[in-house]
Amino acid sequence: MTKPLDPVLLDVPDELVGPRIVLRAWREEDAGALWLAVEASRAHLAPWMPWVRDHDSAEFSRAYTRRMRAKWALREDLPMGIWTRAGHQLIGATGLHRFDWTVPAMDIGYWLTPDATGHGYASEAVRLVTAMAFDHLRAERVTITCSTANTRSAAVPLRCGYLHEATLRSERRDHEGRLRDTLLYAMTRRDYLARVAAPSTAGR
Ligand SMILES: CC(C)(COP(=O)(O)OP(=O)(O)OC[C@H]1O[C@@H](n2cnc3c(N)ncnc32)[C@H](O)[C@@H]1OP(=O)(O)O)[C@@H](O)C(=O)NCCC(=O)NCCS
Repeated sequence: MTKPLDPVLLDVPDELVGPRIVLRAWREEDAGALWLAVEASRAHLAPWMPWVRDHDSAEFSRAYTRRMRAKWALREDLPMGIWTRAGHQLIGATGLHRFDWTVPAMDIGYWLTPDATGHGYASEAVRLVTAMAFDHLRAERVTITCSTANTRSAAVPLRCGYLHEATLRSERRDHEGRLRDTLLYAMTRRDYLARVAAPSTAGR
């Protein structure tokens, strides 16, 4: 059995630059922009992201950015803001979460402010984070999950070349306490390398 990877030793870029967006590890000075983005998105996040209820003050945003900086350093959680390259506006968040370093396997999450939807920014963010997982974090498997009812979210992994592996029945409760089914999408290192070798299949 090989020795498990110590994730603290991994060199992780804290900024990823795409054609239209920049993903950046949270800094304390982002707290004001984060609070405004959460406030602008509260109603549209509530059905899918239960954490938004607890994110209830500018002070929470400040504590969050500090806490996430610490988690980033320990590779316990790698959350990032999504900023536009033109205009440098915070339009959402993404990141890698729920690590199993023995594989290594990890999960991607994402959300956008309502004004930023419909432009492909979430798909661009997922492509950048996917490349970070395989190129820098030695991922063997990256997953994305969402409710079967969240059709906009489900379109993102499909657009980025993830495979629908399973539908997990009664996997969790929704924001109103009803049981919900969860779609599980995954990309393995082999899938990723095949896509890198044949970028024309990568889609929009
Ligand atoms: C999930 C969520 C991020 C998806 O946002 P989205 O804007 O639909 O996804 P993308 O940013 O990838 O954009 C895709 C849309 O932009 C369009 N588009 C325009 N230009 C594009 C481009 N250059 N590239 C790709 N898509 C483009 C696509 O056609 C698509 O529109 P359509 O849905 O009308 O077909 C967003 O709905 C959201 O924040 N929801 C609430 C939080 C949430 O559910 N998070 C996920 C929890 S699992």
